[in-house]
Amino acid sequence: MFVHIAGTGSYLPEKVLTNDDLAKTLDTSDEWIFSHTGIHSRHIAADGEETSDMAVKAAGRALAEAGVKPEELGGVIVATSSGDYRSFPATASLVQARIGATNAGAFDLQAACSGFVYATRVAQGMMQLDPRPVLVIGAEAMSRLLDWTDRNICILFGDGAGAVVLKASDEKDGILDSILGSDGGSVPPVISCTGGTKVCPEDPVGGKMHMNGRAVFNFAVKIFDDTIRRMLERHGLTFDDLSLIVAHQANARIIEAAARRMKQPLEKFFLNMNTVGNTSAASVPIALDEAVKAGRIRQGGLVASVAFGAGLSYGGLLIRW
Ligand SMILES: CC(C)(COP(=O)(O)OP(=O)(O)OC[C@H]1O[C@@H](n2cnc3c(N)ncnc32)[C@H](O)[C@@H]1OP(=O)(O)O)[C@@H](O)C(=O)NCCC(=O)NCCS
Repeated sequence: MFVHIAGTGSYLPEKVLTNDDLAKTLDTSDEWIFSHTGIHSRHIAADGEETSDMAVKAAGRALAEAGVKPEELGGVIVATSSGDYRSFPATASLVQARIGATNAGAFDLQAACSGFVYATRVAQGMMQLDPRPVLVIGAEAMSRLLDWTDRNICILFGDGAGAVVLKASDEKDGILDSILGSDGGSVPPVISCTGGTKVCPEDPVGGKMHMNGRAVFNFAVKIFDDTIRRMLERHGLTFDDLSLIVAHQANARIIEAAARRMKQPLEKFFLNMNTVGNTSAASVPIALDEAVKAGRIRQGGLVASVAFGAGLSYGGLLIRW
């Protein structure tokens, strides 16, 4: 049995926050942010617009494209670090009810920005036991986790959702391979001190994200190269066989450095962080959907996706579309 991506969909909130908007309240500039990240603007969820609202919109679009009815789904997985509720219920349960996926199991998966890649592999495994289609969503309201006075971090993130519908088929190819990894250290380089059991000494009230940007940057460049290379080698393929690389949209400079390391042209990477920013677990599925709609992913094309995030977690997917 092979597992194919039968449909993709995404949703970005209406409100756009530009670098110039940020520079009105922060000691920063469009020039600094764009030259250090490749980001010009990001979308921000409206007051009262929750992660599940964005997930439902992306899901509806992916289901329509796949021609799958919600009641045919065997599973709904939402990869998120910013679900509607801190602990429970799962955002996936809210989505399952809202879209009418009456026969599906539903749960959230938290692997930070790598969450969508993790969820896709978990879904593929689930489908070996029960071949009904699975809806995999990455959805984030990152704007609700940010300290908007911290120029080191708040400039990076945006809100949104992306979704794919996975379908089982006897037809060859689809998701050829995946890799999941974790490099947890004693001092995690990215932490959100909000609402967990741990009181962060540097942030006893909670509510702030802390990040060692340089450490994360260097990790990401290495992991993009290593992860894709390992998947390709397992199939007797090389970077030259890839038609597109859809990487986590954290920072254009990370992707440029990874492209140099892989000796691949930058044109081989899909880039949308310019107007979307880093949407964490929603980043890869939004980029996949935009790449499909832009005609950058075609039937038969070989696509690699790769992501990294807090943990540090990382993962990759190799897909013959
Ligand atoms: C965060 C990141 C953009 C910072 O870029 P950088 O080139 O490493 O910049 P530095 O952190 O070395 O900071 C350089 C200077 O710019 C300043 N600076 C930081 N943010 C700024 C901003 N928004 N505007 C203006 N100046 C800023 C810093 O204070 C520092 O000043 P100093 O030299 O006087 O101390 C970059 O490290 C990065 O993208 N890392 C990966 C982060 C990531 O992907 N996180 C996602 C986690 S899943």
